[in-house]
Amino acid sequence: MTIDKRLTAVVNEIEGNTLVDCGCDHGKVTCEALLQKRVNKVIATDISSKSLEKCFNLVKKLKLENVECRCGDGLEVIKDDEADIVCIAGMGGYEIIKILSNAPSGIKKLVLCPHHDTVALREFLQKSYKIEKDYAIYCDEHFYNLIVATKGRDKLSDKELLLGRDSLENEDYRKQLLALREKYTKIQNMDVPKDRFDECQRCIKLIDGELNGSKKDI
Ligand SMILES: C[S@@+](CC[C@H](N)C(=O)[O-])C[C@H]1O[C@@H](n2cnc3c(N)ncnc32)[C@H](O)[C@@H]1O
Repeated sequence: MTIDKRLTAVVNEIEGNTLVDCGCDHGKVTCEALLQKRVNKVIATDISSKSLEKCFNLVKKLKLENVECRCGDGLEVIKDDEADIVCIAGMGGYEIIKILSNAPSGIKKLVLCPHHDTVALREFLQKSYKIEKDYAIYCDEHFYNLIVATKGRDKLSDKELLLGRDSLENEDYRKQLLALREKYTKIQNMDVPKDRFDECQRCIKLIDGELNGSKKDI
């Protein structure tokens, strides 16, 4: 089984008793979490029976025990207190929000890697979770953020809402800041409405503040 940098980072954050790998698809997170003994059991779920079958086949091939495969929408197939950790990777932020809005009790830790709409997800999370980590990963020419959250509350600054809680010591974060700066500058240079222009300006200012705060490292 090969596992890329994004999924390696996801697996590295998993630690608990029973994991729900929500939207498991190929099943790599499920299997790797068990192979590395990061959890004792995995409930692998997917809304698509075809995707779930891929996970089932990988589990069978690797002769892994302690995996249950369940087909269904989000966490609807998980009962209260069945699992203590949930991983959701490879979905958009709004889909993840929808899934977490219906979470069973007993979940202590979330490991999330949204493909997009990360700001909306952070806004949602801070109301009922404490964001322990939120850092950038550059993999296959895409930027992702890996968010680890526990039950609680948080109050993110404008910068943290936009950029997460990373440090410039992470080379991927530095690259992400420069890529975002370029994106917002490009949008500004297009004929966009004033409110969009001002929003881009605000984001560029936050990014510059972050980059300039550690100028000696650049
Ligand atoms: C792009 S794949 C990601 C697979 C893996 N988690 C990863 O990060 O590589 C997304 C998977 O999520 C599943 N999915 C999408 N919406 C879902 C939902 N509401 N509940 C459960 N699974 C869902 C899809 O069927 C698909 O298999």
